Amino acid sequence: MSDDVEVRPARDEDADAVAEQLGHLGYPASPAEIPARLARLRARGEAETFVALAEHRIVGLATVHARDVLHHARPVVQLTALVVSPEIRGRGVGRALVGVVERWAAERGADRLVLTTALHRAEAPGFYERLGFEHTGRRYARRIAALVAAFFMVLTALPISYAHAQVRERRVSFDSAGLIFEITPPFAARLSLAPPVLNVQY
Ligand SMILES: CC(C)(COP(=O)(O)OP(=O)(O)OC[C@H]1O[C@@H](n2cnc3c(N)ncnc32)[C@H](O)[C@@H]1OP(=O)(O)O)[C@@H](O)C(=O)NCCC(=O)NCCS
Repeated sequence: MSDDVEVRPARDEDADAVAEQLGHLGYPASPAEIPARLARLRARGEAETFVALAEHRIVGLATVHARDVLHHARPVVQLTALVVSPEIRGRGVGRALVGVVERWAAERGADRLVLTTALHRAEAPGFYERLGFEHTGRRYARRIAALVAAFFMVLTALPISYAHAQVRERRVSFDSAGLIFEITPPFAARLSLAPPVLNVQY
């Protein structure tokens, strides 16, 4: 079976199948939301969504993110989602997706692939250990205070994507990932809001 699996980057026209896979993973989404989510990952740079095709249809999905951190010389690459259609599990699709993600990571200079998995996922530990992953840590999660989260959710939901307005010598730019406010010379100031971090530079 694994020889018959093709893995490629997801496209906007895969929206129905991508939404279905997210549903299998326990994160239901409407197909209409998918193109914007794919675009958001691309816009933020080092991230990719892969789909696996077998029997002429999409049967699996993986997302991967690379980021630079201070405590490693090489980028840290994280497998952030992985799912295979229930009726086709155990036939090599998950292994094929992880193989492509691993190559993507190596191309970015990473020497390690990391992931976290929720405690309720019964199949995941056996699968990852079978593929050579070691259980090396714990994950902690906490909800962000409701008011702060709501504020940033409103900002990120702004239906303004890369809209730019020029007001005399002042420039205001918004993007869907947050808010960037810039005032150009004679003095320069920059305000960036990007959830979950508030970053103000003078
Ligand atoms: C985990 C998951 C992606 C695995 O995908 P899959 O296509 O079924 O896995 P594969 O068929 O490629 O399996 C690869 C190898 O792992 C083994 N394996 C798969 N599941 C296993 C399990 N639960 N326990 C032990 N070994 C397992 C397979 O036997 C196979 O071994 P082999 O290649 O030596 O024969 C799939 O079960 C899934 O989507 N689960 C629900 C979502 C999920 O838990 N995702 C992970 C989120 S962190």
